[in-house]
Amino acid sequence: MGNENRKFKRYTVTSALPYANGPLHIGHLSGVYVPADIYCRYLRLKGVDVIFIGGSDEHGVPITIKARQQGVTPQAIVDKYHKIIKESFKKFGISFDIYSRTSTKIHHETAAGFFRTLYEKNEFIEKTSLQYYDEETQHFLADRYITGTCPHCGYEKAYGDQCENCGTSLSPNELINPKSVLSGNAPVKKETTHWYLPLDKYTPWLTEWILEGHKNDWKTNVYGQCKSWINHGLQPRAVTRDLDWGVKVPIKEVTGKVLYVWFDAPIGYISATKEWAQQNNKDWEPYWKDKETKLLHFIGKDNIVFHCIMFPSMLKTEGTYIVPDNVPANEFLNLEGNKISTSRNWAVWLHEYLEEFPDKQDVLRYVLCSNAPETKDNDFTWKDFQAKNNNELLAIYGNFVNRTMVLTHKFFNGVVPEIGELTELDKIVLNEIKTFPEKISISIEKYRFREALNEMMNLARLGNKYLTDTEPWKKIKTDEQKVKTILNISLQICANLSITAKPFLPFTTDKLIKILNISTLKWKDAGRTDILSAGHNLSKPSLLFEKIEDAAIEKQIQKLLNTKKENNDEKLKVNPSKENIKFDDFTKLDIRIGTIIEAEKVPKTKKLLKLKVDTGIDKRTVVSGIAEYYKPEDIIGQKVSVLINLTPRKLKGIESNGMILMAENHEGKLCFVSPTEKFSNGSEIK
Ligand code: 2FM
Ligand code: ZN
Repeated sequence: MGNENRKFKRYTVTSALPYANGPLHIGHLSGVYVPADIYCRYLRLKGVDVIFIGGSDEHGVPITIKARQQGVTPQAIVDKYHKIIKESFKKFGISFDIYSRTSTKIHHETAAGFFRTLYEKNEFIEKTSLQYYDEETQHFLADRYITGTCPHCGYEKAYGDQCENCGTSLSPNELINPKSVLSGNAPVKKETTHWYLPLDKYTPWLTEWILEGHKNDWKTNVYGQCKSWINHGLQPRAVTRDLDWGVKVPIKEVTGKVLYVWFDAPIGYISATKEWAQQNNKDWEPYWKDKETKLLHFIGKDNIVFHCIMFPSMLKTEGTYIVPDNVPANEFLNLEGNKISTSRNWAVWLHEYLEEFPDKQDVLRYVLCSNAPETKDNDFTWKDFQAKNNNELLAIYGNFVNRTMVLTHKFFNGVVPEIGELTELDKIVLNEIKTFPEKISISIEKYRFREALNEMMNLARLGNKYLTDTEPWKKIKTDEQKVKTILNISLQICANLSITAKPFLPFTTDKLIKILNISTLKWKDAGRTDILSAGHNLSKPSLLFEKIEDAAIEKQIQKLLNTKKENNDEKLKVNPSKENIKFDDFTKLDIRIGTIIEAEKVPKTKKLLKLKVDTGIDKRTVVSGIAEYYKPEDIIGQKVSVLINLTPRKLKGIESNGMILMAENHEGKLCFVSPTEKFSNGSEIK
């Protein structure tokens, strides 16, 4: 059953551990850390026992690849980025109780211990299989360490786990002409033993727990992904790898093997809790083992399967742990209409944002929350960023607080005036103030942070409208008593904002608390209309937000345009010429003029055409990755150049005998290489 209405003794809130192989960008904040931080800040205001866990994920192949590319050790890479990431989180006010890392001793011990428990309980399947091995460097090759030709689209630089050209997930065994990234040689197959978590075995439990138990309280995007994984049939998943970077497999006589990064990383949440407990003289176990604890994982959509299926299966199998109550995963944030991409530098990097907009952390937090990809992918644009600052934060929130403060100082020397006789409007406003905390709470507790933020802003809108409707600056000449009441009520709204806005805008509320000259309040005070007593001295007003000018926004847009141009220039670059070869090498190629006599699409592929080609010697089948550029009916009769002595190979179950030569331009567009005159089939190209 969903736990929406259950009372819990404590909360353990985790946020995905980012890989320590690059800095953070706005996508990280918006998808995971801003919502998790709002949630935890809100719980703390309610006085709930909560720990908010974060840390760097320092294992995994992308880190070793980056280290190789830069000629440094993986440790040097993670040391560098852990520091940068931690700093960015701190500057944006992400209020972790601990920000740890998976290279710590306590983590290695915890992850190894967890593995050992399952191993000793005989929960793993031990399987020996053939895997690619680089004989020259003597390494088994992780999927990313193998490249080759994609069997689906013919792209020659596909990785062992995915073809980045057609997006298909691959296994290294599917690649045609596989090559080791380490030596460039063709790898050989060698036997290796690994341990697998039998996810298939947990299907009945997962079905009951997620599909039946969390149908109503998990987000549709999360529930939908789980359903699809479970219904497609779960397979045993290897939890060890042949690699030398990571948590060593804790079995005697086993060397050169580490735990799969997705086995060790989520255990990082537990190790971080232990570390926090040690530092704070607490007991870590209730946070992970007591059924009265609500465990929540804040993540992005690419992490759903690991946090909803794999990690809970591990926890459940271990036997002493609780499983998550909810996994509020977000979709992705795009930037100016395009996917955020680290390799194409299409991102707003947090450390760069802070250089351009120091002291505007709350503005970004606000924009990212109001536009968060909660139910579908969403877009960040600089124009929207500017509009949200100028027309919402500044014009509504800032303007209301500032008008209230300035008028109180002007008319009453900065002293909270007494509330007097109430008009109908005053009564309505006072009653309305009381309704906000519950509305905001309900939205936050359902992980609807956009809705919650909008409600909080409605409180500022209420205040702004009240001032505009009552016009105290005019009334002061005729009815000072009335103005006292108006400003008292307005100040109570400001005090309410200092509570309800705190989870969203922590830096701004700190300023607000200072200018109101009060100490931090609790959530239970929200809704009260007597927070500030008459006679209380306010501090001097200062502006909470500043206008963002067009020039600042144009600068950011220009920066992105430059990136776009650099990426295009990169594409336009003609590939450098390859190494010289001997004439004899060239003469090994038997290339002929031929004619396409039949053509049809290969079913269930986007790019492949099955062609019958008359080569002058014979009529043969050739499978070619040109379907995106040519329709079958348009190319019957087309003269082409064909490499006819290429060893036959199977593509999608069809034997392809040869290769049609194509020219490829910088955009990746293909065109036939054909004779300019009528030339007979079988003519040799020399
Ligand atoms: O996707 C990622 O960035 C992973 N490093 C997230 C890991 S979350 C947890 F399991 F640690
Ligand atoms: Zn492909």
